[in-house]
Amino acid sequence: MSRFELPRRIVNTLEDFAAGSGHLTVLTGAGISAESGIPTFRGPEGYWTAGSREYHPQQMATYAMFCEKPLEVWRWYLYRKHVCAKALPNAGHRALAQLETFLSGRFTLITQNVDGLHLRAGSSAQNTFQIHGNVFYMRCARECTAAVFPVPESLEICSREEALPPSFDTLLRCPACGARTRPHVLWFDETYNEKFYRFESALAVAGRTALLLIVGTSGATNLPNQVAWTVSRRGGAIIDINIAANPFSRLAAESRQGGFIQQPSGRVLPEILEILKSRSSL
Ligand code: APR
Repeated sequence: MSRFELPRRIVNTLEDFAAGSGHLTVLTGAGISAESGIPTFRGPEGYWTAGSREYHPQQMATYAMFCEKPLEVWRWYLYRKHVCAKALPNAGHRALAQLETFLSGRFTLITQNVDGLHLRAGSSAQNTFQIHGNVFYMRCARECTAAVFPVPESLEICSREEALPPSFDTLLRCPACGARTRPHVLWFDETYNEKFYRFESALAVAGRTALLLIVGTSGATNLPNQVAWTVSRRGGAIIDINIAANPFSRLAAESRQGGFIQQPSGRVLPEILEILKSRSSL
């Protein structure tokens, strides 16, 4: 892929950031993983057939559905886990992992993605806030403990038609109390919290962000909007990277020194990394 040249205004913003000591926050959504082959949540591949009915992700990914059909919800998530496990981090994920190392304590990654690809690319668990959870983990559905446990690797559903083997039910149990576990993800009918999803931490970081990169998100969820608007109100610079215009594009274009870059993230993020590295006084 040929190198992408960033607009002059964006280069100036990056140079200013590199010369200072401010904090860089990156907010990612499903778009960054699209180049790894993971279908976005709202696309046609999100639909799920259970029995004779088709369900939309907004119906499957709910606590209400888990209460009604826990094993069907698990079947859906074990299939999604399988898709994520097969995927590999791409140039965008890798650039962000390198950016974290390079900027040391001046970097936070806030991701809506539950695919674990940022961590697999080398981003640290400490500075990566997985605000919607991670499909490779589960926790006690009764919340006897706040601990999260890895979903055993062998538990996967490899095709949409595959039934859930009965033995899985006994393996998807809380190691502490034996109750059923649930996927460690934030569902549509649930609210953010600090304990599992770093809600307050994400808002605190937004409050001290000098430069915000928004990558591959349609801006449909609450916390990402709060983060973006907090940075905007405080006069931080916002750069939105997305193949399509979205609610954040205008916010970015109107922010001090910011802008909207309509390009795939795997093209743009390595370029941003290079500029920050070459112009930095670190
Ligand atoms: N580079 C940059 N952006 C891309 C790319 C790419 N290669 N491919 C797709 N996009 C953009 C799309 O234009 C779209 O704006 O990624 C965005 C994906 O949007 P959604 O599928 O809505 O994903 P996301 O914004 O992460 O959804 C937020 O909503 O459904 C819930 O919990 C779920 O975490 C998810 C959240």
